[in-house]
Amino acid sequence: MSRPFYVTTPIYYVNARPHLGHAYTTIVADVAARFHTMCQTDVFFLTGTDEHGDKVVRAAKKEGLSPRVYVDKISQLFRDLWPELQIEHSYFIRTTDPSHIAVVEQILQRIYNKGDIYFSEYEGLYCFGCERFYTERELVDHKCPDHETEPEVIKESNYFFKMSNYQDWLIDHIRNTPDFIRPERYKNEVLAFLRDPLEDLCISRPKSRLKWGITLPFDKDYVTYVWFDALLNYISALGYPDGELYNKFWPSAQHIVAKDILKPHGIYWPIMLKAADIPIYQHLNVHGYWNVDQSKMSKSIGNVVDPLQLKNIYGLDAFRFFLIRDMTFGLDSNFSELALVHRINSDLANDLGNLFSRVLSMTHKYFDGVVPQVDPDVAKGFKLGLESGAIRTIRDFERSMDAFEFHKALAAVWEFIGQMNKTIDVTAPWVLAKKKSSRKQLAAVIYNLLEGLRIICGLIYPVMPSTAATMRKHLGLDDKTAFYHINQLKHWKRLAPGTKIPKSVILFPRIDLTQKTTDVQTQTETGPANSDIKPEITIADFNKIDLRVATVIRAEQIPRAKKLLKLEVDLGQKRTLVAGIAENYSPEELVGKQIIIVANLKPAKLMGILSNGMLLAAVDQSDVTLATLDKSVDPGTPLK
Ligand code: ME8
Ligand code: MG
Repeated sequence: MSRPFYVTTPIYYVNARPHLGHAYTTIVADVAARFHTMCQTDVFFLTGTDEHGDKVVRAAKKEGLSPRVYVDKISQLFRDLWPELQIEHSYFIRTTDPSHIAVVEQILQRIYNKGDIYFSEYEGLYCFGCERFYTERELVDHKCPDHETEPEVIKESNYFFKMSNYQDWLIDHIRNTPDFIRPERYKNEVLAFLRDPLEDLCISRPKSRLKWGITLPFDKDYVTYVWFDALLNYISALGYPDGELYNKFWPSAQHIVAKDILKPHGIYWPIMLKAADIPIYQHLNVHGYWNVDQSKMSKSIGNVVDPLQLKNIYGLDAFRFFLIRDMTFGLDSNFSELALVHRINSDLANDLGNLFSRVLSMTHKYFDGVVPQVDPDVAKGFKLGLESGAIRTIRDFERSMDAFEFHKALAAVWEFIGQMNKTIDVTAPWVLAKKKSSRKQLAAVIYNLLEGLRIICGLIYPVMPSTAATMRKHLGLDDKTAFYHINQLKHWKRLAPGTKIPKSVILFPRIDLTQKTTDVQTQTETGPANSDIKPEITIADFNKIDLRVATVIRAEQIPRAKKLLKLEVDLGQKRTLVAGIAENYSPEELVGKQIIIVANLKPAKLMGILSNGMLLAAVDQSDVTLATLDKSVDPGTPLK
C-alpha cells in the first residue's frame, strides 16, 4: 500500500456564486483523487468555503442579509454544485465551523506565546477586494493588479506576525525540497519575491471596523485576519492536533490553487506552519487562469461562465474532459465554447467514440457479440503491438498524473487511441472476415482491440467516470471497483473469452455546427432551391411573421466558427443576430447594408451568443444571397 494522498482545493469565498474557475480547480482535485484511488492509495479530498472577512460582510449587506444567513446560503450553493459535477470530496469545511475556530484560536495562542506575534501601529494601502495590505511596488498604476481599484490608506494599531524571522528558513526549504512548489515557474516567482526582505504580516482587524471573524484569543477587541484563519482549514478539517485523519493524511498534503493566491500559500502558510511547529505540506500545485477574451474570469470583472449550463448543454464528462485536456496545468487558457465543441467532436466523438463503436460492432458482426478466444499459435506470429503500446501508455499516464500534468496524461491515452484506430485500418478485419483461413487472425485482432478498450476505459476513469462505467458495461465487465485498479490494467488478457457483450452505444454524439446554424438560419433547411412549394397558409398565418428592414451596424467573424458571423443590426432598436453567411459575405461588405429579418423569431443561443432574429436570404446548393431592398428605407420598416 502506497502512502496516503491528501488533496485540497482553496476554500472559496462566499461573496458570489461558483463559476467555471472554481469548478476547474475542484474537478482537478477530483481527478487527482480518483487517480490515487486507482492506485489503491487512501485518499482524503478536502474542499469548502471561506466565510469570514470584510468582503463577505459587504456582500451580505448588499443582499440585505445578516452575514450568518448569507454565508449559509452561498456555502450551500458550492456544496450543491459539486455532486452535479460528479465531484466526490471526502469533507466540506466551513471556516464558521466551531471545530475550525477552536484550531485557529489554539494556533494563534501558540505563536503568540512563542513571541512571534507583536502589537504595533501601521499605516498602509489596503485592498478590500483582496483583504490585504499592498506595498507600493506591488501595485500597477497605483491600483491593485487583481481588482484594478486603488487601495485605501488605512492607519491602525494591529497585531503582526514576524514572518521575517522565517525568511531564510523558507528560502532554504524551497531550494532543498524538490517540487515543493510546482510547476517550476511558480517556485521561481516565490523565490524572486523572497529576494527582498519580507514584511511582517498584519494578522488582526480591530472590531471597530470588522466584527465578522474569529476573536483573537489574546485580545477580545480584535478579530483574526481572514487569511490567517482560512489557511488553517487544511489542518482543522483533519482534526488537528490529534485526530486520526490528521496523523494519517497531513504528512502527504498537496494543495491545489490558482496563481492568484500563490503568495499566501507559498509564503504565509509554510511560515505559519513552521512557527507553530507543524510539519510543512508536501506540494503546492499551482495552475493558471481561465480567461475570457484575455482577462481573468472573475466575479469582480463579471465575465463568469456557469459550469452547470455547460454541463447541461454538452454533458458532464465532455465538459470535464475539455477542462482537463485543454488547460496545460500551470498556464493560462482561454475559454471558448467553440474550442469545447471542437474537442468534443475530434477527441471524443471521432477518436474515442468511433473506436469504441467500431470495435464493438465488429465483435457483434464477426463473433455474435462474444469475446473471441485467441489461438496461442496465431498470437505468437501475429504481433499487433497493442500490448506494448498499452504498457507504455499506462507508464506515461501514471508519471504525468503524479506530476500534476493532467493534459499530458490524457494526451498519452489519446496517442494509444490513435494506435488502436491505426491497428484497425492496417489489419482490416473486414478483409480477414472474408476468408475462413484468416478466422484465427481475425479473432486475435478483435480480442486485442477489446483489451485495448479495457485499458482506455480504465485510464479515462478519473476524468470521465460515467463514460468509463458505460464502456465497462459494454465490455461485459462486472461492476467492480477493482476493475479500475491500475495494477489490473497493467495485466494484458483480462477479458474472458466467451463473455457476451452488449450492443454498442454512441458515447459522444457529434455536435453538428451546421445543424445549430440552421436554428438561426432555417433558410438553409427549407429554402425553395429545388424543393416543392410548402403547404398553403392563410393571410392570418403569414401575418404572424414580423418581417422588418434592418441596417447592419457591425459585423464580425465568430472566432473559429467558419460559417458564422455576428451581426449588430438597427431595426429601430439594436439587435444581435448570428448568421451562417461567413463563407459568402465578408464582415466589411455587410456593414451599412439593409437586410430583411424575421423580428419575432424565438431567440436561439449559438456558441454562447444569443441570436435575436433571423435574416432572409436566397439559398441554393452553392450560394447564399442576402435579400435586400430596392431602395433605402428607415430601419424598422415592416414588410407586408
Ligand atoms: O482566494 N481561473 O477564494 P476565491 C482558474 N478564499 N481558477 C480560478 C479562476 C479562474 N479564472 N477564478 C477562481 C480565495 N479560480 C480564498 C482562498 S484558501 C485557504 C482561501 C479558483 O473564491 C482558483 O482555484 O477567490 C483560485 O485560486 C480560487 O478559485 C480563488 O477562489
Ligand atoms: Mg479571488
